[in-house]
Amino acid sequence: MLLEKLEEIALAAFKGAGFKIEKVKVTESNVPERCDFQTNSAFELAKIYHTSPLEIASKVANVLSSDGRFEKVEACAPGYINFVLSEGLLNELILSMAEKEHFGLEQTSSKVSVLDYGGPNIAKPLHVGHLRSAIVGESVKRILRYGGNKPISDVHLGDYGLQIGQVIYGIEKEGIKDITLEKLETLYPKYSALCKEDESVKEKCAEITLLMQKGDKKYNELQKIITKVSGDDILRLYKYLDINFDLWEGEADSYKVIPEVEKDLLERNILEVGEGGALIIPVAEETDPKPLPPFMFRKSNGAYLYGSTDLATLYDREKRFSPDEVLYFADYRQGLHYEQFFRASKIANYTSGTHLEFCGFGTVNGKDGKPFKTRKGDAPKLDSLFSEVKEVFKNFGQKEMSEEDLDIIVNAIIKFADLQNNRERDYIFDIEKFSNTVGKTGPYILYTYIRTKKVLDGYDGKLKLDKSFTDIERKLKIKLLSLENAFKRAYDEKKPHFIADFVYDLSVILNSFYEQNRLNTQTDINVKASWAYILNLSTDVLKQMLSLLVINTPSKM
Ligand code: ARG
Repeated sequence: MLLEKLEEIALAAFKGAGFKIEKVKVTESNVPERCDFQTNSAFELAKIYHTSPLEIASKVANVLSSDGRFEKVEACAPGYINFVLSEGLLNELILSMAEKEHFGLEQTSSKVSVLDYGGPNIAKPLHVGHLRSAIVGESVKRILRYGGNKPISDVHLGDYGLQIGQVIYGIEKEGIKDITLEKLETLYPKYSALCKEDESVKEKCAEITLLMQKGDKKYNELQKIITKVSGDDILRLYKYLDINFDLWEGEADSYKVIPEVEKDLLERNILEVGEGGALIIPVAEETDPKPLPPFMFRKSNGAYLYGSTDLATLYDREKRFSPDEVLYFADYRQGLHYEQFFRASKIANYTSGTHLEFCGFGTVNGKDGKPFKTRKGDAPKLDSLFSEVKEVFKNFGQKEMSEEDLDIIVNAIIKFADLQNNRERDYIFDIEKFSNTVGKTGPYILYTYIRTKKVLDGYDGKLKLDKSFTDIERKLKIKLLSLENAFKRAYDEKKPHFIADFVYDLSVILNSFYEQNRLNTQTDINVKASWAYILNLSTDVLKQMLSLLVINTPSKM
């Protein structure tokens, strides 16, 4: 919306110079010391007009130079057009950003988006691995909502697979009467290990799982108790992390529709009988570089699998919500599963044009490059991670903070460490590095926010935008205008790191601003009013963007 104004002006200039063009794209400058914004549209046109991009750029720059709204326009080899905005135009854009709802960010659509994230397995305690799905998913949900979508989030619990069978086996074997969290925490590791050693235990656990899936009363009662005990704890941890779900459903819920789906697929001859009587959907395509194994709907022993529950859940979601898109947030190692499942749902015609997307993410590693562990080296449970992060942060000398504020900081440390990375990549979680108030960290950004707020609190004059009196002020305005591009990329690609980068860059400029432009010692009231205006807008933008990264702001730091 903001840059659109510049794009309109540039488009008119291209036309004015005699070129036929539909749309001009304006982006932030690659060389900020030379200009504020640039367009590379001359390159596309050069191909059509069989002339050099620089020639076109020069003609357009000439037209723009006579437009009073720019301080400078230049054509640069090999064909860029660089703009330096006049103070008038710059302020016009800043004012419209400040006045418009959502800072003038386009409300792209009103799409219904189902987001499937979190995905914890209730047989095991929540650990760092599942944290990423929850954080990235929650952030993308907030970004989509901010862009106008109607998101529906579902936790999709792993609550009906072999892991439950193993835990139930353990409960029976040890004659456990009251199922507590502590007991559950020991049962899963113990019996999943035993399954690896002892074939007969493994068979027994598979049998329990199958009976549970077929509706066995006793096993389903136990499954419900396990889900409740474990689910309550997962909810507590999500609450701490400010991660919220519209639907608290899971694999087990899909069993209500599996018979209907199976009947439908059989009637329409979509299921084929594979090896040993298994029911499959062949999904390979000729153009596949590697042969893709068929989608398994039902095993030869009659058990259903991960894919069956996903297909049935999609069928159900389509019926209940008619979504425009369904997004799945899981470890990228599950890529093959989603490929098979998406193809199967297309063959079954369950999507009616719904866009299905696997938003895969990388692993959280420790400093040694191996999957993250706590200091004790044990399975990285979340409670111990939270308290470890809190201790490390306190050691940086921040001792007189309320517990509530400390918890906000712990959240910021963990989430900013995660969300500043392109979600597709692995990243190294280094507690010391990410807890520091210096560097690209959550505490650095919160500290910047709090300090800027404090400057504003100490000012009781007017807020009134004026021309830029100093360089850094101008830089701050230009950075604020780049929000639009950052947001758009985060929205389109479902990648919060574009917003994290923006938030960090903005903080760096705000800190230089603080060093160079002291509001409290400045004597000119017009300068003060203009600085206060721009700082106020910056803190509003910062707070809002942090909330899209699921980060709150503390009361003090
Ligand atoms: N519970 C699964 C796991 O731990 C993740 C679920 C992801 N969602 C889905 N619809 N498959 O790997």
